[in-house]
Amino acid sequence: MRHLLSTKGLSRGDAIRLLDIAEDMADVANREVKKLPTLRGKTVVNLFFEDSTRTRISFEAAAKRLSADVINFSAKGSSVSKGESLKDTAQTLAAMGADGVVIRHPASGAPHVLAESGWIDAGIINAGDGTHEHPTQALLDAFTIRRRLHRSAARGKGLDGVTVTIVGDVLHSRVARSNLWLLTTLGAHVTFIAPPTLLPMDMSAWPAESGFDLDAAIDAGPDVVMMLRIQQERMNAAFFPNSREYSRRWGLDDERFGRLAPTTIVMHPGPMNRGLEISSAAADSAGSTVREQVANGVSVRMAALYLLLSGDREDS
Ligand code: NCD
Repeated sequence: MRHLLSTKGLSRGDAIRLLDIAEDMADVANREVKKLPTLRGKTVVNLFFEDSTRTRISFEAAAKRLSADVINFSAKGSSVSKGESLKDTAQTLAAMGADGVVIRHPASGAPHVLAESGWIDAGIINAGDGTHEHPTQALLDAFTIRRRLHRSAARGKGLDGVTVTIVGDVLHSRVARSNLWLLTTLGAHVTFIAPPTLLPMDMSAWPAESGFDLDAAIDAGPDVVMMLRIQQERMNAAFFPNSREYSRRWGLDDERFGRLAPTTIVMHPGPMNRGLEISSAAADSAGSTVREQVANGVSVRMAALYLLLSGDREDS
């Protein structure tokens, strides 16, 4: 693997290999010394043009556990706010000898531009580009589902026949898109539930079902319910009347949560708007994987950095 830019096009074999390596990395996290020497002497740059808490510190922890040197670069307070272009920034990083670049950018496609530009010869990992993709989030979600379902026998397995209902702001969500491609590649069935205004206009190319009725979707008894954050910062219009109306119809409130089977997994990528898309009782329940997702994120990102940066990178 040379870059990790999207989950669309990621093969089932490559996805399962990455999840299996993440299992090995998770074993390391349980040791007293959590560090591996694998990426000693390599430099990983975290290039964040958009706010992030979880994803940035998760990549930082992952790189450090593999003994890489980490440089955190956030657009606020850098020359980017003075108008420096992506090209100039990339060339600066190249001159510093970056082996890997983890990039989050508000423009969909920015990581692809960086990977294909020739400005820098580093492995590029997309940590979220606009509304397009967020591949490591989907990988950590798949890892979390697989672990809950198969426990210690997870290695080598996909998610065949698993039903996943993804609820909320699908329109603006790169998490929804990356999960769609990855989960279906792994054999899961995906259903999107949202207000009509928060679903993409044309979903005919998406291998998924969609609907507007959360109650019917809950009563169908999915294995996984994944709630998405309402992305207020990407909304330039009123997509629903008000937040009370939104949570009444599309929120995982206490009543809907109570109707879920005890085995149903409740997921959220964070940051959560408690009381809007998810109630605290649902978020903090035994069925919720919110905290596990964060912990698993480190293992999955260690696996991605390992595949991209150790040894000779493949050119495909
Ligand atoms: C997501 C993101 O930034 O795309 N969060 C994350 O990576 N933990 C989802 C979101 O912001 O809603």
